[in-house]
Amino acid sequence: MDLLKVIKERKSIRAFKPDPIPKEKIEEILRLTIHAPSAINLQPWEFVVVTGEEKERLGRRLIKAYKEKQISCSPGNVKPLPKTYGKRGAKTLELMKPFFEEMGVNIDQYINEGSCNFYGAPVAILICLDDSFPKARMVDVGIALGYFVLAAHEFGLWTCPIGLIIAYEDEIKDLLNIPENKNVVIGVALGYPDSNIPINRFKSQRDNLEKFIRWIE
Ligand SMILES: Cc1cc2nc3c(=O)[nH]c(=O)nc-3n(C[C@H](O)[C@H](O)[C@H](O)COP(=O)(O)O)c2cc1C
Repeated sequence: MDLLKVIKERKSIRAFKPDPIPKEKIEEILRLTIHAPSAINLQPWEFVVVTGEEKERLGRRLIKAYKEKQISCSPGNVKPLPKTYGKRGAKTLELMKPFFEEMGVNIDQYINEGSCNFYGAPVAILICLDDSFPKARMVDVGIALGYFVLAAHEFGLWTCPIGLIIAYEDEIKDLLNIPENKNVVIGVALGYPDSNIPINRFKSQRDNLEKFIRWIE
């Protein structure tokens, strides 16, 4: 596939088939992912790949933690958001609504519990960062995430980045024996989409480029 097609076609999937993904395929995607640039070529990312019964266990543990703590999907803003951003988030949820109505599910419950279970994907990947790095190295992890979702798509696999689970970092680290000095920055679900599930027909929109750009000439 050409890069333009991959960029335009990729989207987040919120219902996966349980079909397992061969280890070699996951490695191939990660091998492409680590072509990502990083400051001073430090390559600070670490990938914890969770599959099989361990992934199911992780999902169960996170759903339990969510039910106990009720920390929902939220961007964790440190100040009230300027209106533009709030509107974008609200619009996205509004556009998703008919698909959830068709499914007869509660949108909050589906997204929160679905995120905790990586939407049923057979593979959950956690990208970690050593805690000796400054916050700025999160940029490198973000770039790697971008490479990962595009590389996966090239291989016919679909993804959903999962940030919600970071609220339950302690539980994740405990279950997966992730050392204390590693921060779990982001999770990603990887697998084949279940095309019978309406929410997978949803494609998010983008504002016009003019909204994001200021030329200084
Ligand atoms: C850092 C990050 C965290 C995210 N966390 C979640 C999440 O916890 N649950 C979820 O359903 N989607 C999550 N998403 C997916 C976004 O909602 C999605 O990327 C956005 O709505 C744009 O849609 P698209 O990926 O289909 O283009 C996350 C995306 C990013 C980049």
